[in-house]
This record gives sequence, C-alpha cells and structure tokens, in this order.
Amino acid sequence: MSERNIVVGLDLGSHRVRLLVAQVDDQGRHKVLGLGTAPGEGIRKGLVVDFDAAVAAISQAREEAEASSGLEIQSAFVGVGGQHFRVIRSEGVHVKDGPSREISAEDVRQVVRVARGLQLPAGLRILHTLPVDFILDNRAGIEDPVGMDGVRLQSQVLLVLGDESILENSAKAVRKAGLEVEGLVFRPLATAMAALTRDEKDSGTVLLDIGEGCTEILVLHGGSLSHAEVLPLGGGNVTRDLSIALSISLSDAERLKMDFGAALSKMDDDMAFPITQLGASEERHVTARTLRGIVDPRLKEILELAWDRAQRTEVARRPSTGVVLCGGASLMPGLSSLAAELFDRGVRLGEPVNREGLLAELQDPRYTPLVGLLNYGFQRLIEEGSEGGKARRSGRAVGRILKAFGRG
Ligand SMILES: Nc1ncnc2c1ncn2[C@@H]1O[C@H](COP(=O)(O)OP(=O)(O)OP(=O)(O)O)[C@@H](O)[C@H]1O
Ligand SMILES: [Mg+2]
Repeated sequence: MSERNIVVGLDLGSHRVRLLVAQVDDQGRHKVLGLGTAPGEGIRKGLVVDFDAAVAAISQAREEAEASSGLEIQSAFVGVGGQHFRVIRSEGVHVKDGPSREISAEDVRQVVRVARGLQLPAGLRILHTLPVDFILDNRAGIEDPVGMDGVRLQSQVLLVLGDESILENSAKAVRKAGLEVEGLVFRPLATAMAALTRDEKDSGTVLLDIGEGCTEILVLHGGSLSHAEVLPLGGGNVTRDLSIALSISLSDAERLKMDFGAALSKMDDDMAFPITQLGASEERHVTARTLRGIVDPRLKEILELAWDRAQRTEVARRPSTGVVLCGGASLMPGLSSLAAELFDRGVRLGEPVNREGLLAELQDPRYTPLVGLLNYGFQRLIEEGSEGGKARRSGRAVGRILKAFGRG
C-alpha cells in the first residue's frame, strides 16, 4: 500500500482537537488506522486564541494517532469553522472563440475562474468554489456541460469565504505542530459529506452541528448548498450557565451537565443532585427542577436561533425538509425530541452514514465532522489520481455535493 493512499483529517474543535488517519486500498475500501484526540486548548469558536496551547493540543492528537496507527503523520486536511465564514454567490461568463463549439473541461475551468475573479472585500479568502448551475446559450439547469455544443457558457457558483488572517493562524498552528496542511476545509461541508445520505442532500435537509463553542448550520438541497452560517453558541454556554447559576467550577458544571443534562425531563422534579459550591467545604443538593430551569432555556435558545437562521431559506420552510443533528451537544438526552417539537420536523442524530472501515467509537455524532474530513481527503485523492474528465466523473459517482466541493 503506497503512502499516497493514506488520508488524514484534523478537526480543530474548541472542546477537542481530533485527528484521524485512514487508508484506501486498491479496491477503494476505506479503513481507519489511527485516532488521536486532545482537549481543544487554545481554540475557541473556530479561532486560535492561544497559539502555543493550540500547537500543543494538535501535537498531542498527532502523537496519539501516530502511536495508534504506527505511522508517521506528515500532513492533514484541516477542518475549520467560525463566525468569520460567509457564503456569497457569483457568476461567470465565457464565450468560445475557436472553430470548435464543443465545451471542454478547460472551458468549464475558465468560466468558474471568471466567477471567482470578483473583487473580494479586503482580508477575505476563497476557501471553496461550489458550482451551482451552468447555463449554455441561455439554457439553464445544466449540471455538466463538458462534451455539449454551445458558444456562451455561464456559471453560477457559491464562494465560501473566510478571514485570511484567522485561516492563516490556524494553518500556522498546524504546521508548527509538525503537519503540512493539505487543505483547509470549511468544516460544515465536510460534516455534510459524512452525515447525510444522497437522498437527504437532494431532497432538502438542515444540518446542525452543535459543538462546544459554535453551532454550524447548513441547508442543502438538490445536492448543493442553500445556506451556511455559524452561530457563536454551543454546549459550552450550557456549562457556563450552570457554573454561574450554581456557583460551581466549570469542571463540576461540565460533569453535572454530562451526567444529568436534559435527561432531567425524564426524571422526577424533586430528585436531588450533589454539588460543591466554590469556596464551600460541604456538599449541597439541587433539584432536577432547578437544573432543568437552567439548562432547558439555553438549549431552546440555541435551537430556536439556529432554526430561525435556517428558515431564511425556502428549503427549510418546507414541511418535508428533515433535520440532522451532530456535535457533542446533540447527545444531550432529550435534545432531538426538543428539536422535533420546536421545529415540527423529522429530526435524527447524524452519525456517519457510511460505516465502512470505521472504528466503533467513530459511529458517534461528535466524530461526524472528522469522518467528513476523511471523505473529503479521499475525494481529493481520487481527483488527483485521475485526470481531466476522468477526475470529474469519479467525483460525480460519489454524489454531486462532492464534485461541487471545490478547492478555493
Ligand atoms: N454525552 C453528552 N451529553 C451532553 N453534552 C455532551 C455530551 N458529549 C459532549 N457534550 C458536549 O458537547 C460539547 C462538545 O461538542 P464537540 O465535541 O462537538 O465540540 P467541538 O467540535 O470540539 O467544538 P466546536 O465545534 O464548537 O469548536 C461540549 O459542550 C460537551 O459538554
Ligand atoms: Mg465541532
């Protein structure tokens, strides 16, 4: 097995930095070889806020994955998120001027290049270019114009933009931790690759990744992206609320949340839980009613805000559109049913849909973004291993969202 068949994904999360190394064999089968995780020190809401701490966390995750895989890990596809991301639409036009009227792969690249050539606000960088539609001699709705005859080719694309210096600092921390950056990836797109079936991407789905510091919102339809947004709220807010309201340390609050959280809804209101307040030497007890009064409004707020943003798309307003939840906070017992009630939609937990070659512990909505980064890496491997039309065709075989998942 050549080294070229190894793919590494690295998710820079605020709660945990996670690194996964996997291999694809000659038959195209995937197998995870190693996993490393470390507390997401130095990373907050998608930003590197303490450079040395972030480097140490990434190094720790790399070393753990190296120990478990027996491989030396040199580079990774790095998933990044944060509120600084935005998605804009752009258009390009390309008119063929040679004797041939047949649209070539180069014509398509050229018309997409034109769409990317718009004047960007200062300090922003294009991370992905996602073709939405091609129009050939005024005929819209063309997915892949290569091989067709025509003169005037237009492209409609979505550009995923991120803050240049935030992205550069994330990349710098990864490099300082001994890894080359094979690509920076807008994490929610990777999450969608792993979490959703092809049907869900086609018929319309709202994907919410509720992590520690952020809630990432993605609306997909027709195999393509309708909306992407990142809210600066997550499970960490619930922990902080508990810590402040009960005067307990953050680590005690985290434990209390994990143990009881929204599972309270199933418990007796008067059931008591022990806590030790800051500065106190003796335990006290709080009731399930009190805890629920702290946790539930925050979870409701996060879900309602995310839903409100998603509702800006026509797709999310359709009653048939389903909701998929990922991220650690989605594991709060009762969260899915709360979401189903608030949104009046079908809601499911978004574990990775393709389990091939995965370790059992990765079948968990906390790991879906990381598995998505591997999928993205494998896709790039396929594209780079083939040329021209062949590359584009293999892209199509695994779904349009992947083909559209452009590189900047
Ligand atoms: N079983 C669980 N029950 C309740 N909450 C949980 C559970 N497991 C994890 N969490 C919460 O999920 C959050 C972490 O989620 P996740 O691991 O997806 O975050 P992250 O990807 O590191 O962070 P971010 O994406 O915000 O940068 C924490 O607030 C944690 O308390
Ligand atoms: Mg996350």
